[in-house]
Amino acid sequence: MKLLNFNNVSAASPRNRGRKRLYLATFGCQMNEYDSQRIAQILHEKYALTSKPDNADLILVNTCSIREKAENKVYSLVGRLKKFKKQKPDLIIGIAGCVAQQEGDRLLKRLPFIDLVFGPQCIYGLPDMLKDVEKGMGAVLHTELKHDFLIPLITAPLSEPNPVQAFVTIMQGCDNFCTFCVVPYVRGREVSRPPEDILAEISQILDKGVKEVTLLGQNVNSYGKKVDTCPDFPGLLHMVAEIPGLERLRFTTSHPKDISLDLIKCFRDLDTLCEHLHLPVQSGSTTVLKRMNRHYTRDQYLATVENLKSLCPNITLTTDLIVGFPGETDRDFEDTISLLKTVKFDQIFAFKYSPRPLTRAAGFDNHVPEEIKAERLEAVLELQKEIGFMRYKSLEGREEEILVEGLSKKNQEELRGRTRGNHVVNFSGPQELIGKFVTVKIIKACYHSLRGKILIP
Ligand code: SAH
Ligand code: SF4
Ligand code: F3S
Repeated sequence: MKLLNFNNVSAASPRNRGRKRLYLATFGCQMNEYDSQRIAQILHEKYALTSKPDNADLILVNTCSIREKAENKVYSLVGRLKKFKKQKPDLIIGIAGCVAQQEGDRLLKRLPFIDLVFGPQCIYGLPDMLKDVEKGMGAVLHTELKHDFLIPLITAPLSEPNPVQAFVTIMQGCDNFCTFCVVPYVRGREVSRPPEDILAEISQILDKGVKEVTLLGQNVNSYGKKVDTCPDFPGLLHMVAEIPGLERLRFTTSHPKDISLDLIKCFRDLDTLCEHLHLPVQSGSTTVLKRMNRHYTRDQYLATVENLKSLCPNITLTTDLIVGFPGETDRDFEDTISLLKTVKFDQIFAFKYSPRPLTRAAGFDNHVPEEIKAERLEAVLELQKEIGFMRYKSLEGREEEILVEGLSKKNQEELRGRTRGNHVVNFSGPQELIGKFVTVKIIKACYHSLRGKILIP
C-alpha cells in the first residue's frame, strides 16, 4: 500500500488553512498511483493530504483486484477504518479503483458504512460526488465505464512540492483479454490519449522540476493503433524524447506480442530513453502461453530478447510470471525455469495464479493445487535470487549516472537513487543532491540493490 502524503505540513500551516484533510491509500499498479495523484490534484483546493487516518475528513482507498490477495488487503484495510467513522460521524469514506469497478453496489452491501464507491474513469466527478454525499441522501455509486473515455488534461498543481519523477498515462484500458486477467473488465477498452495532450502534460510537469517521466499503459506497444491521427508508440517516443528539459524517459508495460523492431531501435537511438525494459513473459511454455491467449511463443519471446540484447547490449530486462496456471504440468513449469536461466532477468515479479471473476481461465479445468503453486513459486524465487545477484554483481566496479530520488529506505542518513538500468543504489551524500544527477562507482551488490560511492556530485 502506498500513501499519497507529500504536503503533510501541520494543520496551522498557512498553506493548509481552511482545507480539510484527505487520507489517500493506494494499492495496485502505477496506473492507480497516477489516478491517486490526479485525485489529490482534483481535490487540491478543498483537501490537504494527511498520513493519519484518525484526523482525516475524507478517506479514499484506491483499490486493485488483480489477484484475490490484493482484493483481500482492501477489505482488511477498510474494515480497520470503520472505527474512525464511529469516532467522527461526518467522516466520509470512499472506495475507488478496480475493486470498486468490479464489485459496485456489492461493496455497499458488504460494507454498509461506506459513503462512496467509484470506478477509475469516474474520478473526475469527485467534487460533485462529495457534494451529493454531504447532502446526506445515502451512499453514492459511480461505476460507468465508457469505451471511448478520454483522460482529460488537468492543470491543478501537483501534490508533491518537489517531484523528481512522474508517471504520465498515455492510454487506458486493454483489449487483449489474457485469459487470467481482470483488467479489461475493470478498466474498459483500450483508448489512446491524443499526442498533444501527452506532450502538454509532460511539459507541465517538467516545469515543476520533474527530471524523469514514465509513460504508462497496460500495453503501450499498441499505442495509437486504433486512431489514424495518432503516431505509433515508437513515433510517440521520438516526440516525447525531444521535449526540452526531459532528462530520463521510461515506459511500462510492453506486451511481447507486438514489440516492433522500431521500438527496439529506440533503445539504441534515443539518448533520454533509459536502458530498461519490463517485458512480462508470464510463462516459458508455449502451450501455457496459448491457453493464456498471449499470442507469442516461447521462441518468439526469446528472439525478441536476442534482438534487444544485440541492439542495446546494456539493457536491463525484468519480467512478470505466473506459476500454477490451470493445466500447467511439471514439464510446462520446467520450461519457465529454463527460460529464466536463458534470459537472466535482473528482477522478476512472480505470482501464484489466482482465479478472477469474469475471466475465462477461472472456468478452465485442471486447476493446480495450492501446495504445488506454492512449491513452484518458491522454486522460481530461489533460482531468481541467484541469477539476480549474479547480474547485480556484474555491475560492481562500474561508474553509473544516478538520479537521486530521496533518502535511503533502510538508512535515513543515506541517499537513494536509480541507474538508467533501473537498479536502486544507496550511497552517502548531502541531502541537497536530491533531484540531481551524480556519478557513483558501484562498490557492492546486494540482492535487490547496489551500494555506491559518489565520484562526481
Ligand atoms: N498489462 C500487463 C500486466 C498487468 S497486471 C501485461 O500485459 O503484462 C500485472 C501482472 O499481474 C501480470 O503481468 C501478471 O503476471 C499478474 N497477474 C495478472 N492476473 C493475474 C492472476 N489472475 N493471477 C496471478 N497473477 C496475475
Ligand atoms: Fe491483462 Fe493481458 Fe491486458 Fe496485460 S495485456 S492488462 S495481462 S489482459
Ligand atoms: Fe490492479 Fe487495476 Fe492496476 S486491477 S494492477 S490497479 S489496472
